Order: sequence, then structure tokens, then C-alpha cells
Amino acid sequence: MDARYPELRGRVAVVTGAAKGIGQGIALRMASEGMRVVAVDIDADSLTTTANALRALGVPVMAFHGDVSLPGDIVRLFEEALQAFGTVDLLVNNAANLRRSRLLDDHEGLLELQLATNVAGPYLCSQRAAAIMREAGGGSIIHISSVGAARAHHRGLPYDVTKGAINAMTQAMAVDLGGYGIRVNAIGPGLTHTWRTDAFRDPAAYRAAADRVPLHRFGTVDDIAAMVAFLASDEASYVTGQIIYVDGGLSAQLEPPWEERRLAADADGTAAAGSVTKGAHRA
Ligand SMILES: NC(=O)c1ccc[n+]([C@@H]2O[C@H](COP(=O)([O-])OP(=O)(O)OC[C@H]3O[C@@H](n4cnc5c(N)ncnc54)[C@H](O)[C@@H]3O)[C@@H](O)[C@H]2O)c1
Repeated sequence: MDARYPELRGRVAVVTGAAKGIGQGIALRMASEGMRVVAVDIDADSLTTTANALRALGVPVMAFHGDVSLPGDIVRLFEEALQAFGTVDLLVNNAANLRRSRLLDDHEGLLELQLATNVAGPYLCSQRAAAIMREAGGGSIIHISSVGAARAHHRGLPYDVTKGAINAMTQAMAVDLGGYGIRVNAIGPGLTHTWRTDAFRDPAAYRAAADRVPLHRFGTVDDIAAMVAFLASDEASYVTGQIIYVDGGLSAQLEPPWEERRLAADADGTAAAGSVTKGAHRA
């Protein structure tokens, strides 16, 4: 794809969780914009594959095999990034543990792991990156949040809690770092097609899930990467402290579309077969 924001060419992007899924899409988009990319991931094999794909786009790439839940790895990451490229202009905090549970189901250790990976990791990466950006006179930090920060998933614990913390972190860091010319924003993806959504290759399963979304489709990694590119670009130079949901309208709606159809059918007295008992969902 052609570069859309020429000012990004040659700048340095650190993308965590870049080996797969949304992070891979973001790293590829940043490379397409001509940025030098530091791709970070805990999954060594996938990281090698992605780093090769990035290099094939003709930009310098540093693959960093490390774990963002480990403060020592974060220190090493930014030391090596500075050695390789001399600066950091963009940090995308994308890596996360996505497991979800109910509060009363057994998920021992998951809270600690997700606080370390999804909250402390982005916090400490931002701290290191911001110190470099302050010296350079500015930069951009983008956290990858989730619709789960705005509206709770069913079986969404403790994951949604960590994404709520990301939203608070976005605003607090934006206020704190604005004076250094460092902008901090977050993107909240909705249902996004990745290797994780293989179960929805079945058209009927896909349609049922996609129909919950006002735009009637899943998002793509390119949808998320496009927002990252915009927020990183100079076009967004007055945007900071914002949480932008790239979710096809999922977080905007009070009820899924079939609820509207059911209510209309109830009002007509023609409730569709299989619809929920009248009034069951009305509080
Ligand atoms: N896929 C979705 O529908 C969706 C929806 C909302 C939010 N998100 C958010 O988008 C981001 C990416 O999610 P995804 O769906 O691409 O997941 P994914 O599992 O495909 O990718 C996450 C990447 O992060 C890496 N990673 C995990 N723990 C790490 C660690 N401790 N250190 C370094 N790397 C680590 C993984 O190896 C993987 O490559 C996450 O922050 C997630 O919460 C995703």
C-alpha cells in the first residue's frame, strides 16, 4: 500500500505484540508508511516471520524477543532500540493477554498476569519511551484498549478491568506529557478479524456475530492500523488524551439490532417465533 502520511517516513515505531494479529497489522502499516520498526513479541517464531515480512517492505527492522510483563525486558528493549535507531518517535502498546473469565470461575494467577502484561507493561514502556521523546522534543504514544473498557463483556474478567486502566492511563499520561509535545491516545477495537476469530469462518456463525455490530461486519486489522497511522501522523497534532473506538458502532448501541426488531414485532402483536418472552429483557 502507498504511504499516506509522508512525514512518518524514517521515523521510529516501537510496536509491542507485533508478531501476530492486530499488532502485526499495525507494524506492517507503519512499515508501509516508511517507518523504521522495532517489532516486540514473546512469540519468537512468529516474530521472525513477521520481521521478515516487514523487511520485505524495504524498511530497517529490529526484532526484539521479550516479555512486556518483565520490567528488565522493557529496559533492555529501549536500550537496544536506541542503539539501533537512535530515537523512538512512536510507541504502540498493543501486546496483551486476552483471556477472559467469570469472577467465580477458577482463573488463579490471571489477574496478576494481566495486570503485569496489560497494565504495568504499557505503563513502563511509556515511561521509557516518553523519556526518549522528551529529549527529542515530542512523540506519540498509542495504547490499544478495547470496547471492553467502555461496556463490559460477558465473561470479561479480569481483562476488561485492565482495559479500563488503559483508558485512565491514556488520559493521565496525555495530561502529564502534553508539555513535552508527547501525545497519548488509545484505540478501542471491537470485534476484529484475526487468527483468533477462526471459529467465525463458518458463514452462519459469522453472520450471527456480525449482525450484533451496527455496521454488520467484523473489523479488520487494517481498520485498526489505519487509525494508528492517523493518530501517529501530523494530521492528528492536536489530538491527545482521546480514546477512539474503532468498532463499527458496537460500543455506541444500547441493544443489539434484533432487540429492536423484537420490540417492533411485539408492538405489532406479531412477535417472531423464537423471540424472547415478552418483556424478559426490559428492566
Ligand atoms: N482481536 C480483537 O477482537 C480485539 C478486540 C479488542 C481489543 N483487542 C486488543 O488488541 C490487542 C491485540 O490483540 P490481538 O487480538 O491481535 O491478540 P493476539 O493474541 O493475536 O496478539 C497479541 C500479541 O501479543 C503478544 N504478547 C502477548 N503477551 C505478550 C507479552 N507479555 N510480551 C510481549 N508480547 C506479548 C502475543 O504473542 C501476540 O503476538 C490487545 O491489546 C487486545 O486486548 C483485540
